[in-house]
Amino acid sequence: MPFTIAIDGPAASGKGTIARALASHFGFRHLDTGLLYRAVGAKGGDPVAAAQNLGPDDLTRDDLRTAEAGQAASRVAAIPEVRAALTEFQRRFARSEPGAVLDGRDIGTVICPQAEVKLYVTASDEVRAKRRAIELDADVDRILTELRERDARDAARDVAPMRPAADAVLLDTSTLSIEQAIALAIEHAKRAGA
Ligand code: CDP
Ligand code: CDP
Repeated sequence: MPFTIAIDGPAASGKGTIARALASHFGFRHLDTGLLYRAVGAKGGDPVAAAQNLGPDDLTRDDLRTAEAGQAASRVAAIPEVRAALTEFQRRFARSEPGAVLDGRDIGTVICPQAEVKLYVTASDEVRAKRRAIELDADVDRILTELRERDARDAARDVAPMRPAADAVLLDTSTLSIEQAIALAIEHAKRAGA
């Protein structure tokens, strides 16, 4: 039986960093599901058709990490048919042997409600904005506004809103170094049988 680790949380909380480290530690595959929504948003045209026809080239565009791509992703992510078109691919990936780590917003609640490990990674708005501003070499106030707007849209949508699963473990990384956050996540996954 494959082992699935679901990691959710708001923008720039550290999900991807923790997910990559867990995958590397346990020899699991990793899927950054946010990239799927970013690719749909960046493709333009009809978002439902874009989601249904997403190919490998769409996921390697070099403009997917921008704040604009994040906003476009969050808009198309509220469309039920877009989410439906991406569901099966994510569920199949989650069944990878010997295990898989998926990070996003609805992994523990909708995509993999049976995941063996569920983490909900958070950090204060200010810390998240600072980290993302350094990463993108952008103005921290502009990034803070962008993250808050996106989080509000992600949490308020009707379909698969961003929220911790009832059985998720919360990991607040506000005052943690990357190494500390990774160590806590590995410890938790080991306890759960990874
Ligand atoms: O995937 P997500 O958007 O949640 O966040 P990330 O890309 O993993 O992390 C955002 C930025 O915060 C990266 O530059 C990380 O290196 C940094 N980070 C940090 O400084 N401290 C942590 N405990 C976790 C991440
Ligand atoms: O890295 P960051 O946390 O800033 O964003 P991301 O994980 O790349 O996600 C971009 C956007 O895609 C989010 O703001 C959500 O609107 C959407 N998303 C989603 O709805 N469901 C997921 N499983 C992953 C991302």
